[in-house]
Order: sequence, then structure tokens, then C-alpha cells
Amino acid sequence: MNRRSFLTAAAAGLLTQAGALTTPTSPAGASASLAAAGSLALKGDPFTLGVASGDPSTDGFVLWTRLALDPLGGDGRGGMPSRDVDVDWQIAADERFGSVVRSGTATARAGAAHSVHVEVDGLEPGREYFYRFRSQGRLSPAGRTRTAPAGERSLAFAVAACAHYEHGYYTAYRRLAEEEPELVVFLGDYMYEYGPSGYTALAGRVRTHTPGKCATLADYRLRHAQYKSDPDLQLAHATAPWLVAFDDHEIENNWAGSVSSTGAPGFAGRRAHAFRAYYENMPLRRASLQGAVLRVNRRVSWGPLARFHLLDTRQFRDDQACLDGVRAGCDDRLDSGRTLLGPDQWSWLESGLRGSTARWNLLGQQIMMTQRDYKVGPGREVNLDSWDGYAPERTRLLGSLAATSNPVVLTGDAHMHHLADLKTDFDDPDAPVIAKELIASSIASDGDGYRDKAWIAEALSENPHISFIDQRRGYLMARLTPDELSVDYRTLDYISRRGARARTAHRVTIPSTAQARA
Ligand SMILES: [Fe+2]
Repeated sequence: MNRRSFLTAAAAGLLTQAGALTTPTSPAGASASLAAAGSLALKGDPFTLGVASGDPSTDGFVLWTRLALDPLGGDGRGGMPSRDVDVDWQIAADERFGSVVRSGTATARAGAAHSVHVEVDGLEPGREYFYRFRSQGRLSPAGRTRTAPAGERSLAFAVAACAHYEHGYYTAYRRLAEEEPELVVFLGDYMYEYGPSGYTALAGRVRTHTPGKCATLADYRLRHAQYKSDPDLQLAHATAPWLVAFDDHEIENNWAGSVSSTGAPGFAGRRAHAFRAYYENMPLRRASLQGAVLRVNRRVSWGPLARFHLLDTRQFRDDQACLDGVRAGCDDRLDSGRTLLGPDQWSWLESGLRGSTARWNLLGQQIMMTQRDYKVGPGREVNLDSWDGYAPERTRLLGSLAATSNPVVLTGDAHMHHLADLKTDFDDPDAPVIAKELIASSIASDGDGYRDKAWIAEALSENPHISFIDQRRGYLMARLTPDELSVDYRTLDYISRRGARARTAHRVTIPSTAQARA
């Protein structure tokens, strides 16, 4: 079976069927747990939310699933009983599971919404693996994942963000999966907290959120289950390991640290519920759970070729200056005492950049880093929720990036593709370019895209350091080698109907400058 037929088979659920008939090797403990399942049998398929993997190392990764017989059952527990359930897992070297290399049994705890996170180690570097789960006599769909390489080689990876479920179908996730990236970097707004039509797109909605704005643990669990029920999203997860980090909407629009943007009381509790549900639904390692903190800033290395530095630009930031929004004349944003990353994450990033021996250093982060003037003509209006609201820290960060081998910044949030030059002085045309910022448009947020050439021309002329903008939905498809990073800006013409093709609207090739720096 070649890669393409693995995808087709995974989509059709054929691997589940074939595996059930021909399972060549019983996972350890399978007979005991399957026997126990006889007396406690659940009715139906518990694998309705799919499977996922994430955070590859040279010898492993984390595998994820969450059992739910009835994903949209009203209490957020997916129609599951209030007892723990055993889940067997297998990792194979081949897609037919003829050569199972690791297996075990994990417990899907009722207190964790029957989610399973299995951290696997001891595997070979730089190769593809296949995995699946079994519980209650049922097999999950199979997923494909991989370990990071130990030596230098290439990497094909996708970058995506912002997938509002009501705004359109997830065709972009399907197209991304069909390109078979080795890694997917997801930069936030995986789900949105709004109730039905709480945030509308111009083209209206194609489907409807679960009731109410998310506030309770049950609300967040239910909303994640709704998103995870989407077959295109499931396919994208089953195709490659993901690196995920949240932005604002996984919790609440434009929150900052311990502050709600609405000023409503009880934000600490809401944030705790949202964090818990996020962990339960994502292929994150247990190390992310740090008491009240959900730690998603972390580093993932791809041999000597690349190091991903994933940032958290929400949890540790100071509140937005000047009451947030897109505004002119906010001097507070220039206060050098204000922080976006927080002191601990700042030191972690600084030392990680300084100590990196990787050829490419890729920052995965949520909000626009480049200066962006939204006012046409004289004067300047900036988005105080983005790095423009924390300008001195941006200048310091660019200073650190300048001393790093091949820095590139990957960004989400904007719901439009952008390509920008990052400079310590954006107003000086002669200031050196320190890094490129590649901003991925949205998978679905804001619905059917468009391409307003007059508006784009104005935006580019106001911001000469930005060279490309596209308002259509899409994702980035990147190919990295020691010598260059080549990135296709992929776009879809519509998402209000299924079936749009993905096409390349723009391509940028960034040559390595590591030789010159050495
Ligand atoms: Fe978004």
C-alpha cells in the first residue's frame, strides 16, 4: 500500500475493518481487557473522535484518542459511563500492522473525559510508524506518524490556524492531508468559544455550534467533540504528527494572562476549564500539565536541520494597552516594561535561541509580529492585541533572532495569508531584514475568501515591508532543506460548499544564510 492508498483507506475506515479480521499480534494485555469488556460492553463505536499524534522526538511521540459513543451528548462526556475504560494501543512499522513494534494498554479515565495520551519512546529515528487503538472489541481508525530524524535531511511541513466550525467546511484540512506533510504546525484558534452565530462570517454559517458560549468544563468538552467529529479534521490528524499551541479562542476572545477581555467575573475558572478540555483533546505530552499553567511553549527538533520554538503569546502577557482594539496614538504600547511572553518564557526563548545548533530556527507563534498600519493615508493605526501592542519586546526579540542561524517566524491569527520582512525599524527602508514572517491564513474562519485587489494594494503600500496578502482560506505547505526553505501559500476558492481545490497563490524561497553567518 503506498501513501496515497493509506490515506484513502484511512478515510474509508478500511484499515479498521481489515485489522479486525487479521490482527496479527495481540497487544499486551488485550485478552484481559477485552474479556473485562465483555461484562461491561459499551454499545457502539467509541472512536468517533478519531486519533492523533504529536510532538515527535528522535525515538517517539505522543499518541492520542478520546472515547465518545455519543460525541454531542449534552454533558460533554460523550455518552460514556462514569467509569474508567482500558484502551489497548499498537504501533507498527507497516500500515497493515503486520509488524507491530510496540503495544500496551492505557486507561481512558472518566475524569479526563476518557481521553488517552500515550507517550512512546524507544523507537528508531527518522521513520514512519502506524498506530491504532482498540477498546470494547472495537478498533480505531489507523493513524500515521513519525519520529524526528537524528541526522540532517529534509522536512515537508504544513502550517495552519483558525478553524471556525460554523464558517465553512474543513476542505483545507483535507487538502493539507492529501499533500502528506511529515509534520503539521497548528498555531491557534483550533476551536472557537462562541455560541451559535456569536461570531458570523459574511457568507453566513454552514453549520451550527453546540449551544451557548463556552463557560463550563462540559461546554468546552462538548465543543471540542463537535470539532473533532469532522472527518476532514480527523484525516488531517491521522496523516502526520502535529505540533499544537493555543491562541485566544480556545479559551475566550482576546484574553490576556489572567484577564478576560469582557471583564466578566470568574475568568480564572473558565480558563482552567478551557485548559483542561484543550489538553484532553490534543496530542500534548503530560509535561504540559503544570498546575494552573498549561505549558505549550516548547522546543521540537528535527535533527540538526531545524528546531521549532513554539511560543505562548496569551498566557503570560500583560493586558492589552489602551483597552485593546485597532487604534492610533496609544503611547502605552511603547512602554518597555510591558511583556507579551512573560519573564520566564522570555528567558527560556533567549537561552533556546542562543544555545541552538540547528541550521534553521523556526518560531511557531500566534499573533502578527510585523508592524501593520491599518490606516490608509497619513497616521498609523495598529492592532493592540498583536506584537504592535508590545513593540519594545518585539525589538528585543528581533535582536535575539538576528544572532540565530536562519530564523523564520510562523504565525496564525490574521485569517489572511501574509509574507513580511521583520526589521528592528520598520520605518527605515534600509534597515536590514532579520527574518521573514510567514502568516498562514485560516482553515475556515471568516468563511469563503475573496481577493480584493484594491484593498490589498493599499495595505501593501501602507506597509512596504509586507510583500504579499491573500484573503482566501488556506494553509502553508513548506519544504525545508539545509539550503533553503520553500513555502507555497495554498488557497481555496470557497468553503461554503465542499470540494474546492487547493492552489498555490504565491511561493517564496528563502535561502539559508548559515554559511555567511558562520
Ligand atoms: Fe482566529
